[in-house]
Amino acid sequence: MEAYGEAMIEAQHISKWFGPTLAVDDVSLKVERGEVQGFLGPNGAGKSTTMRMITGFLPLSAGSVTIGGHDIEEDPIAAKSLVGYLPENAPAYPEMSVEGFLRFAAEIRGLRGRQVTEAVERAIRTCFLERVRYQSIDTLSKGYLHRSCFAQAILHDPPVLVMDEPTDGLDPNQKHEVRELIKEMGKTKAIIVSTHILEEVEAICTGVVIIDRGRLVFRGTPAELKARSALAGAVSCRVFGPSAEELMASLRGVSGGGAPEVLASSNGGVAVRVPPAAEGGDGLARRVCRLFVEKGWEFDELHTEGGRLDEVFRAVTLPDTVQENGA
Ligand SMILES: Nc1ncnc2c1ncn2[C@@H]1O[C@H](COP(=O)(O)OP(=O)(O)OP(=O)(O)O)[C@@H](O)[C@H]1O
Ligand SMILES: [Mg+2]
Repeated sequence: MEAYGEAMIEAQHISKWFGPTLAVDDVSLKVERGEVQGFLGPNGAGKSTTMRMITGFLPLSAGSVTIGGHDIEEDPIAAKSLVGYLPENAPAYPEMSVEGFLRFAAEIRGLRGRQVTEAVERAIRTCFLERVRYQSIDTLSKGYLHRSCFAQAILHDPPVLVMDEPTDGLDPNQKHEVRELIKEMGKTKAIIVSTHILEEVEAICTGVVIIDRGRLVFRGTPAELKARSALAGAVSCRVFGPSAEELMASLRGVSGGGAPEVLASSNGGVAVRVPPAAEGGDGLARRVCRLFVEKGWEFDELHTEGGRLDEVFRAVTLPDTVQENGA
């Protein structure tokens, strides 16, 4: 089915023009089995457009896409048979029941007879759709409609999944279930998921790319993304006893250069953050602790910041950090 050692999803230098608008600008991606690639970016960045091109639902303006070694434009039937796609706006078949919709989708996928029944039952179980299997699509709540579409995407147990905001609109329990499901499927499949929820990236993704105004602005692991945070390695704590001035002066002595910052001050406690030492390393928390013990100051909530995804996201997608799409 796929050539040995080859990426299951490979997009090379793909671009998309809508009239005069360059929506996707020279994006390249590679996803292997066992990888869940998180796809992040502000609204209008080009995530859905990229996914539509990868799944063959939208022609490319430039570049190429192969799925399991099959070119999506030259060999679309073979390529698409390997892909399950959860689009942003689910195609609706309002009067069909959930079960009917899934049977129909299975037949379109080329399944026949028992295969259809088995695939539909498995998808209904996996996506917790028993309760609504006979309900018509147009009467489903948003969450159940979304899950029916999710079920449609995994029906034929494809090795490649492309999911556009798979947890959007789900309640917290369902978000958790869907994340677990994607993580589990990610062990054997090649998956791309777009999301606006940064914790989701940490929870399920092995890799992450960020696109902004059509251009790829970050590629790495979730840990690498977090490490880019200016806060990564900073030590935060709350101290009781010294005045803010005295505390700042003492902390400057152990911080290794960075200026400590008062976050809040109330009822005798001062909350501070000491920025990471320029030389890096993890000794900062211990130095801060030792200082407090020597001074006889009580403290609590002392911890080293692991970095914040939302902070990095804002930084890498800020207007002045990326090039404008030139026409
Ligand atoms: N069919 C279309 N015709 C014209 N412009 C389009 C079309 N589809 C998308 N666009 C434009 O392409 C750009 C990228 O849109 P896209 O839907 O890919 O963004 P997105 O990253 O998925 O955003 P969101 O987070 O809001 O879902 C936007 O400027 C959008 O208006
Ligand atoms: Mg989108």
